Amino acid sequence: MTAPETDHPMTGLGAEQLRTHAAEHLLRARDRSVTLTDAVDDDDLVRQHSPLMSPLVWDLAHVGNQEELWLVRDVGRREPVRADIDELYDAFKHARSTRPTLPLLGPAEARGYVREVRDKVLDVLDTASFDGNRLTRHAFAFGMVAQHEQQHDETMLATHQLRVGAPVLQAPEPPAPRAPLAAREVLVPAGEFTMGTSTEPWALDNERPAHPSYTDAFVIDAGCVTYGEYLRFVEAGGYDQARWWSAAGWRHVREAGLTGPKYLTRDGDRWLRTRFGSVEPVREDEPVTHVCFYEAEAYAAWAGKRLPTETEWEKAARFDPATGRSRRYPWGDDDPGTEHANLGQRHLRAAPAGAYPAGASPLGVQQLIGDVWEWTASDFLPYPGFQVFPYAEYSQVFFGPDYKVLRGGSFGTDQVACRGTFRNWDYPIRRQIFAGFRCARDARPDEVA
Ligand SMILES: [Fe+2]
Repeated sequence: MTAPETDHPMTGLGAEQLRTHAAEHLLRARDRSVTLTDAVDDDDLVRQHSPLMSPLVWDLAHVGNQEELWLVRDVGRREPVRADIDELYDAFKHARSTRPTLPLLGPAEARGYVREVRDKVLDVLDTASFDGNRLTRHAFAFGMVAQHEQQHDETMLATHQLRVGAPVLQAPEPPAPRAPLAAREVLVPAGEFTMGTSTEPWALDNERPAHPSYTDAFVIDAGCVTYGEYLRFVEAGGYDQARWWSAAGWRHVREAGLTGPKYLTRDGDRWLRTRFGSVEPVREDEPVTHVCFYEAEAYAAWAGKRLPTETEWEKAARFDPATGRSRRYPWGDDDPGTEHANLGQRHLRAAPAGAYPAGASPLGVQQLIGDVWEWTASDFLPYPGFQVFPYAEYSQVFFGPDYKVLRGGSFGTDQVACRGTFRNWDYPIRRQIFAGFRCARDARPDEVA
């Protein structure tokens, strides 16, 4: 039996509280955008650090342009600030690789533009009514825009990681493990649970609606695969042995000449890692980061396991067998606190297994939220009952076999863009994102008896 979702605390907020809540998220996102763009000089802002990424100055003005479209023009019904630049900052009109060739706003102009838009948006927010259409109910459009900016802040952080040059970002180290993991693997019982959500006010269309979903009994790793574990696969010759790879994965690993996780180099008998401009020895107990889906899949095969499906991941994260309910997050229904998960660019790396025991799921699976995005075995597909909202380009145009789902957010993800139901997707060859994985396997008969 699955229990119904309970109402989200935001549904009880009055208009003034919603205004404060939305403003806090918008301001936090902007603080981060400013930190990431002020950290480098103007040459670096307009430079393309990789054909996979936009120049940072494009991301900045694009964030402002989306904010203008949704909140100044659509919700606020105000005159456009810069209708002439809409086309330049439409992500669907220009591939990332071509964006440096566009007549983009320069650094000073882009900064001035996003400030002007934000001033108007805070004005719109001051008098907005939240009981009208779906776009404004629970301040959804403001939440969507804050999420969008935070998603670009994570993309900009990935650009910082690709950037060549002296380090410019600083952050304290993540916490050390509090206690060793009680078990390396956790058994998840067979049965239905509630997947997705119909009650999270700021959930995006692809997370909806809540629906019953069934899994057989399975076993999932209590923590993510670490660099130490992954490098044993590398050193055992895993990248030279076709038998661990899918046909598409093997083709890719040969064509791309992959020999190990991105940003790692071999130095004699040790591995070094380049991280935001610093070169350091690899930490064995840190979750492996910057591997693509195919590498995750191959490691899992070598380890005698497989990747979890998206459904398995969410069940391990949210299902509470004591109540039959799905929680908002592994630890419960409270928003993420610093004790629960490594989120929000507070630390610039994933934390070792055992660093966030307070964030464990009811079944004892740890660090599902934060640290690294986790590749799943699943294609990005709509849930039963999916409805486009507020526009087809958010999710619908990406549904299909080209993209694999990633779950849980990374150290670079803000909490506003990381619910227990949040779904990310990317091509199976992508490695510049902050992605790792954990393994799963079918439960043996003796384990479920
Ligand atoms: Fe965008």
